[in-house]
Parts: sequence; C-alpha cells; structure tokens
Amino acid sequence: MTLSCDMLVFGGSGDLALHKLLPALYHLHRDGRLAADMRIIAVARSPLQRSQYQALAERHCRAQVARADFTSDSWQGFAERLDYLAMDAAQSAEYGRLARLLGNPAGRLRIFYLATAPALFAAIAEYLATAGLADARSRIVLEKPIGHSLASAQAINATIGRVFSEAQVFRIDHYLGKETVQNLMALRFANALFEPVWRSGHIEHVQISVNETLGVENRGAYYDRAGAMRDMLQNHLLQLLCLVAMEAPMRFDAESVRNEKVRILQALRPISGLDVQDRTVRGQYVAGQIAGQDVPAYYFEKQVDNDSDTETFVALRAEIDNWRWAGVPFYLRTGKRMARKCSQIVIQFKPVPQRLFDNDQANCLVIRLQPEERISLQLMGKSPGKGMRLTAMELDLNLAQVFPQKRRWDAYERLLLDVIEGDSTLFMRRDEVEAAWAWVDPILDGWQQYYQSPRPYPAGRNGPEQADSLLERSGHQWFEG
Ligand code: BG6
Repeated sequence: MTLSCDMLVFGGSGDLALHKLLPALYHLHRDGRLAADMRIIAVARSPLQRSQYQALAERHCRAQVARADFTSDSWQGFAERLDYLAMDAAQSAEYGRLARLLGNPAGRLRIFYLATAPALFAAIAEYLATAGLADARSRIVLEKPIGHSLASAQAINATIGRVFSEAQVFRIDHYLGKETVQNLMALRFANALFEPVWRSGHIEHVQISVNETLGVENRGAYYDRAGAMRDMLQNHLLQLLCLVAMEAPMRFDAESVRNEKVRILQALRPISGLDVQDRTVRGQYVAGQIAGQDVPAYYFEKQVDNDSDTETFVALRAEIDNWRWAGVPFYLRTGKRMARKCSQIVIQFKPVPQRLFDNDQANCLVIRLQPEERISLQLMGKSPGKGMRLTAMELDLNLAQVFPQKRRWDAYERLLLDVIEGDSTLFMRRDEVEAAWAWVDPILDGWQQYYQSPRPYPAGRNGPEQADSLLERSGHQWFEG
C-alpha cells in the first residue's frame, strides 16, 4: 500500500488530465494501489462544482477505460477521492484557499502535478512556496515540454530549483513509462548476447520512428507554437535514443541511469547553421486521406494559423561522437497524420563480411513500442526444398502473448506510482533536459536563419519525399514493416 498523500492536478480540466491522468489514477485505484485516504484534487479556472467535475471525469474515464474494468462500484470509490478547486493558478492570492483545503496533516505527502502550459511552471512553484506548501513533504511533477528553448528551460529549472530540491522534482516523459521502453533496458542489460554487437563495428544504422495518425485534436493553440521538434523530438525521441545508445549504468538507480543518458546527449554532434539543410527535414501535412477518411490540411485545424509554418513532421540524421557509435547514423522521425500509428526502434546490423548466398539481407532487430509491444529479430533462413534459397524470417516476441493474463499498464500509471513512491529513475534530471535543449536549439535557429519552411506531405503519407532522400543518400531506407 502506498503512502498517504494528496495529489493536486493543475490543468485539471485539460486534455492531459482528462484523457491520461484520471484514467491512470482510476486504474491504480481499482487495482488497490492508492492509499485508502488519498485525495485527488483537480485545479482549474472553470467555475465548476465538485459534482460537475466528477461527472466530467466520469465521462472521460468511461471512454478511456476498458468496459470490463469500469464498474460503478470502483467508480464510486474513485469519485469519493476526487475533488475540484476552481482557482486561477496565475494569481498568488488564490493559494491561501488551496492551503486551507490541504490542511496540515503531519507526514502526509503532497504531490503537485503541473499539467499546464510551461509558462506557468515557475509562477506556480513560487506561489506554492509563498503559501507554505513547498516543504519537505512536497513533490512537483512537470509535464514536457519544459520550456520552448534552452534559455526558457534554464529559467524554469532555476526557479523550480530555488523552491524544491532536485529529488522533489519529477520531470515526466511518458515514453519512459512505456513497457517496451523499459524492456529495451532489460534486453540490452540482462542479455549478454547483444552487448558485443551493440556498437559501430556491427551496426549499420539505427532508426527511431514515432508515427502518429492523430492530428492536433483540441491542442492547436499549443501545438502551433511548439511543432513536432519541441513536442516530440526534444523529449520522447531523444529519450529513446539515449536508451539505445547509453552505456550500461553501474546500478539500476536514478543517478546511475541518468548519468549515462546525459553523456549521450552531450556526445550528440551539433547540427547548426547550414547543416540543417543536409541533416534535417521539416514537413507539414496538407489534405489527404487516412484509412479512407478525408483529412484537412494542418492549417485548417482548430486554433491553428492559416499561414502557419509550424512543422508537423521532422526527420533528422543524428550522430554520436563516442567510441561505441562513431560513424553510425541515428535517424529520427516523427510526424502527425502519417500512414499508420507505429512507434518503433530499428537496429539495422551490417551485412555478413563475405556473401555466400545470393539473396541474403542483413539482420535487423525491431523493437515496436506501439500499437503492439513486440521485439522481433529478422534472420535469414533457408526455404524448404532443394538448393540454398534464403528467406527473411522473424524471431518474434509479442509481449501481449507472453503475458496474456496481464492488463497492459498505461505509461502514466507506472509513472504516477513512481512519483508517489519517490523513485525518479524514469524521470528526467535537470541537466538532461537542458542538454537536450542545447542540442535542439541550434537546429531551430538554423531553420529560422535559412528559412527552412516545412515541406508539404499529404495526410496519410509517412512525411515528405525529402525524408526518404535523407536516408537514400547513405544507401539506407526507412523501415516501414
Ligand atoms: C505527447 C505529445 O507528449 O505525446 C502529443 O504532446 C502526442 O502530441 C503524444 O500525440 C503521443 O503519445 P503516445 O503515447 O500516444 O505515443
């Protein structure tokens, strides 16, 4: 049973809270993982009564949670924990009401989850401190993106750091809570098989793709200022890159794991100035079709500027300047409104040193994060019958089939529990976030400096053609399997 605590969700009526956090908390409640007296208090500006908020939360949880897991008994119990406070988090005078609601019970943990725009992070932290709510019993959770540039991230981190110690700050990247992402660490560091070949001598290149079919839904206002680089690549894709590339940590604990990740971020070769033209591709979707449905162009989405030049797609070629990875391209790609939802990491091995057979292909290891969680190793084998005719075959590990009884946890369930238990291994440390921005900033500047406006791609295609040429120049191609 976990510690007794209150969790406050700022931005409680926003998309993230309603679509992700509350369903995750509901599951934890249903599985008996929350302390019996834990309260969840949503904070937002809308003037709602508690019962109205509970009804709103119920509607969203019902839609997100599998029917078999949503029972009226469990919901009733969950709704009793759920409270709502209408307040403007940008006004320091309002924090007195918050302090009164929380009271001062000894030994009770307070978790402040900031699911708001990052522009509010620093102010909320300061007002919490002024109201006496930032003591040793408090933890603060920050959603990505932390800032929109290195300077803004440093400013946020500095203010947060004046109020909370680093151990109290949980910078969330929900990709780290995904089961297959953690499995990547198990695969690398619990199997002696891979380590000897996990390096430049044996690996031709690595691809990390996070392709979405979704557009920007109700988040046009945020997304149009962020774009794919800030929304996805600066955080989720770079985190995946770190896990593929990092050295084995001394121990599986927060500091050791994060030290190794930071080293990789610091070893990324800068992409700046004119490099952006050779090593990066920006795209923006125009009208097209996905699964037979018409999809309008990005610039017609709600709350998006009609002449927006925000990228909804980015692909780039990263390189890591260290002994293990010298000369191995890491191709990163992410986009909205692509052909199909698929997040995967592909490790493409080099061909055999001397070819004996006509149609052999080099091996590749595919780690699929979604929609299915699977790890497959593509090998060459012989087709039955006379002669040495080779065929590509798969050793395929489908995690849902290996553990058929187990409900698949959503990333937020795992991460919220880690916050309650105080385990920061799967959260980003301050220097990690800043190192990621330090690498991304010059790319954003290069785009501005050389007016690299996004290349159009029709919705339903995996990005603009230039993203294919990015790999073809080195004799590679995107793995679409
Ligand atoms: C979020 C981004 O962090 O991740 C969204 O802000 C994106 O734009 C989402 O859609 C993708 O997450 P997942 O878990 O569905 O791959």
